[in-house]
Amino acid sequence: MSTTAIRAAAVTFRADPFLHEPADCLVYEPDAVIAMDGGKIADFGPADEVLKRLPADTLVLHYPDAIVSAGFIDTHIHYPQTQMVAAFGEQLLEWLTKYTFIAEQQFADIGHARSVAGVFLRELLRAGTTTAAVYCTVHPQSVDAFFEESSRFNTRMIAGKVLMDRNAPPALLDTAETGYRESQALIGRWHGRGRQHYCITPRFAPTSTDAQLDVCGTLRKEYPDAYVQTHLCENLDEIAWVRSLFPARHSYLDVYAHAGIVGDRSIYGHGIHLTEQDFAICHETGAALAHCPTSNLFLGSGLFRLFDAKQAARPVRVGLGTDIGAGTSFCQLQSLNEAYKVAAMNGTRLTAIHAWYLATRGGAEALCLENTIGSIAPGFDADLVIIDRKATPMLDFRDAYCADIVERLFVLMTLGDDRVVRATYVAGQRVYDRDAQGERFSYPAA
Ligand code: GUN
Ligand code: ZN
Repeated sequence: MSTTAIRAAAVTFRADPFLHEPADCLVYEPDAVIAMDGGKIADFGPADEVLKRLPADTLVLHYPDAIVSAGFIDTHIHYPQTQMVAAFGEQLLEWLTKYTFIAEQQFADIGHARSVAGVFLRELLRAGTTTAAVYCTVHPQSVDAFFEESSRFNTRMIAGKVLMDRNAPPALLDTAETGYRESQALIGRWHGRGRQHYCITPRFAPTSTDAQLDVCGTLRKEYPDAYVQTHLCENLDEIAWVRSLFPARHSYLDVYAHAGIVGDRSIYGHGIHLTEQDFAICHETGAALAHCPTSNLFLGSGLFRLFDAKQAARPVRVGLGTDIGAGTSFCQLQSLNEAYKVAAMNGTRLTAIHAWYLATRGGAEALCLENTIGSIAPGFDADLVIIDRKATPMLDFRDAYCADIVERLFVLMTLGDDRVVRATYVAGQRVYDRDAQGERFSYPAA
């Protein structure tokens, strides 16, 4: 394979700014070259050094006025809910029955699933997101449709079939036994195929019996490198319901711990109303939380205590999630915009360094992929987003008044959205080009 390269300013992280001096964590290179070969980053550094050592025939694409970052990572999102973003007026439990469970029934039809998967993956790429932890529906064909399209783009994706054997419409129910068999078959079909990873996906405690949650624990034991994702402590009515459904368990998290699904590679959506003991258990076991601010504000669920979760004495892995369709934007810059405000409501300050870390390396750490994605460094997957810092008249104007890169990153996360994403690279190939004449998306050459 031949080497190609990108030239632009670059930002990436060498460590977690919640645990180390933030200024030491940020790597900023005002004129960088990133060389890519075989889907990986082959070289990265100041242009005047890297250009000298590149193979003579290297194609160098220059993006002036741009900042290149590792592709954004979305640790919690539902692809079947793309069609119902911005559903009016309800909190979680009513929102699920009134909108979500209606939309998800349509994914029995693989044609529908394929068409939504196509829109969904393009929206992610348009937002600069290159890896996501994705909920499909209870229908195995919804998973096939998703992974087929992700394989075409060669995106590194984590996804799975939802398991639900109670408290949902009959058309969306499986059983402990069919949920087990169908998940097993999907793991066999997709887990580790190219860049696809399987995720065992019980929706949340209220829609699974003990028997079904136990099956998820069995699957996790049988496939220790597969993921687990579910929801946890999002809404007060939900938490009260879990208490009444599982009276023997001393907390919501304990329901999952009892089933054997808390640990490395398990990702819990929301975690808004967690206790100190819950945070300690997440820390000890390596379980991750997905902070989904646009969703939490939209559904009125509450304010995630990010700086509490990340306390240096017992830090919990935290990634950022859009939680489409309860969330309101595919773009992680908008998640950061709202994360800043949620932090402010908690009396804390989310700096641009903390924020961009969360959207990149922090997400990779939450997914136990910190040695593969989420950073710009040789050997990492060449998944990159090119950010146009002058994408709108307002950004162009405001940029002129930025004193340094930290201010620039803060302005971008506050004012920026999908319009700033100039291009997205997946495994070294440009799959989205905002300014292309004609088709802006392309599958990488096989
Ligand atoms: N809890 C259980 N299912 C869901 C869902 O689809 N979205 C959100 N935000 N919370 C949930
Ligand atoms: Zn969710």
